[in-house]
Amino acid sequence: MTKTQVAIVGAGPAGLTLAQLLHVAGIDSVVLENRSRDYVEARIRAGVLEHDVAELYEQAGVGGRMRREGLVHTGVELQSGTERHRIAFDELVGKTIVVYGQTEVVKDLIEARLESGRPLHFEVSDVSLHELESERPRVRYVHDGAEQELECQFVAGCDGFHGVSRPSIAADVLRTFGRDYPYGWLGIIAAVAPSHDELVYAHTERGFALLSMRSPELSRLYLQCAPDEDLDLWPDERIWDELQSRLGVDGWTLHEGPILEKGVTPMRSFVTEPMQWGRLYLAGDAAHIVPPTGAKGLNLAVRDVAALAEALVAWYRDGHVGLLDAYSETCLRRVWRAEHFSWWMTTMLHRAPNSDEFTLRLQQSQLRYLRTSPAAARSLAENYVGVEHA
Ligand code: FAD
Ligand code: DHB
Repeated sequence: MTKTQVAIVGAGPAGLTLAQLLHVAGIDSVVLENRSRDYVEARIRAGVLEHDVAELYEQAGVGGRMRREGLVHTGVELQSGTERHRIAFDELVGKTIVVYGQTEVVKDLIEARLESGRPLHFEVSDVSLHELESERPRVRYVHDGAEQELECQFVAGCDGFHGVSRPSIAADVLRTFGRDYPYGWLGIIAAVAPSHDELVYAHTERGFALLSMRSPELSRLYLQCAPDEDLDLWPDERIWDELQSRLGVDGWTLHEGPILEKGVTPMRSFVTEPMQWGRLYLAGDAAHIVPPTGAKGLNLAVRDVAALAEALVAWYRDGHVGLLDAYSETCLRRVWRAEHFSWWMTTMLHRAPNSDEFTLRLQQSQLRYLRTSPAAARSLAENYVGVEHA
């Protein structure tokens, strides 16, 4: 049996960020991940870091490459039909965002973890959590063909939506809230310079589209599709035609290039309450899911573990339990704000398959309001860069 202070299940952004924050504070942890390092580093997902999340990475000593290679954006464009309107974050709320891929965040964190010399085990299997209501929880798993037991003081459940942590909470305590949407996103990475220097969120009668990027050489683009869309029906030419017709505006060209990667993401909203049970603390997608519109998923995960790290540091340094006891409530306030914002952005910008004209008029009205009212624009900007006091 091995011992540690904090057992961290999952090496996604939540688990790896927590490991780094604890390391900086001199707290021991073991990270257990069921996939390989290559798989985790190649998984293409989110791309937008909120202002304070980018700062947190810098303060935690892992922001070097992000600051050199990340793209600072001072606003985004909202497109309604063929009209675009810029939401200027810096002017409206004095903050900016950083476009830097989740793959890069994960690579930086893995490198920092390996440098720290503290344990990070890939390709473990059969992870199970035990005695979570005691002061000495245990995590059992199989690594290199051998059964292992890890004794710890706290377990951080950072193992995503399909992990083992959330189901380890007693069924009579756990409450979940959620919604599935009747659409998904077809996302591509293309080897072509982004056609615009900021993100473009487009609402059109053909459905939603988003222009984003990963670097000056790589475009990231999304199209609203069915949640179970068959990618075989989407040869590259059809994807570009559809992007051209949804994103096209006069006097602007969407540049096409080789598609390097294609995928479909279904969309859901989901919240678990509480986010803590005994010595188990859930963080990130293990506790909540947002639809991607508004780019909150990764940011929420990082903010959960920032709160958890602060609470653990207070406990280890001074024996304070207050922040640990308040963890779930503290996180859920911010989580529900982001849930509302993501749901609102999603329903404003997508066209449901059986959507009626009334809904379309409401969406158009809301988009017009954002164009004409600084108060409405400021609210969007504040939520997008990250609300300070939810
Ligand atoms: P995850 O990144 O899911 O990490 C959990 C880790 O735990 C994984 O490495 C997993 O392999 C591991 N794990 C799972 N089960 C076990 C187990 N039993 N034992 C050990 N390890 C385990 N957000 C956006 O803002 N914009 C986007 O465009 C966007 N696109 C997305 C596309 C997809 C396909 C998905 C699934 C999510 C997307 N998200 C997006 C959401 C965002 O990527 C997540 O919110 C973010 O990854 C959450 O980080 P996490 O560490 O909580 O969870
Ligand atoms: C990206 C993803 C999002 O969900 C979003 O709202 C903006 C950008 C991206 O992957 O670049």
